[in-house]
Amino acid sequence: MLDKKVIELLNDQINKEFYSAYLYLDIANYYDDLNLDGYSNYYMVQAQEERDHALLLMKYMQNNGLKVTLEAIGKPDKTFSSVLDPLTVASEHERYVTALINAIYHEAHEAKDYRTMKFLDWFVDEQMEEEDSADTMISRYKLFGQDPKGLYLLDQEYLLLIFFLQFLYIQLFLHLIFL
Ligand code: FEO
Repeated sequence: MLDKKVIELLNDQINKEFYSAYLYLDIANYYDDLNLDGYSNYYMVQAQEERDHALLLMKYMQNNGLKVTLEAIGKPDKTFSSVLDPLTVASEHERYVTALINAIYHEAHEAKDYRTMKFLDWFVDEQMEEEDSADTMISRYKLFGQDPKGLYLLDQEYLLLIFFLQFLYIQLFLHLIFL
């Protein structure tokens, strides 16, 4: 049986991951309205990844004989007024998620719950990648995206990249599920 506090945090993190998916869908909608299909697709894929993070947490709880309680998902409440705004929001959000994962890790460590710590290792690595990707989106926009032609080329690039990233991610997810 896992520690009570750890269980609460894991269950809560499921909700937080679904909220992340909701936030990224909101960002995808914003870019879709601007006809930036590459940016929109990029965040559609991000939303899918967040949903998969929630499913991984659910699976871990189920595999440990724990009851999963799904709570209401909060409404995305960010407002965007420029192409850069959602990129900044996404970067800040990933840092917030990193803090949440670290907090669960801390509780697991306190409880000598080595199984959960091992499980969370993947999330710790994933957060490093997600922060890096979010920051790269910002720096590339600042470097190239403020010129209309540069923004068009970036958007086209994200449109092409998506399918490759999606293929890689599906492979990784299957690997984790059937481990
Ligand atoms: Fe599931 Fe982007 O953190």
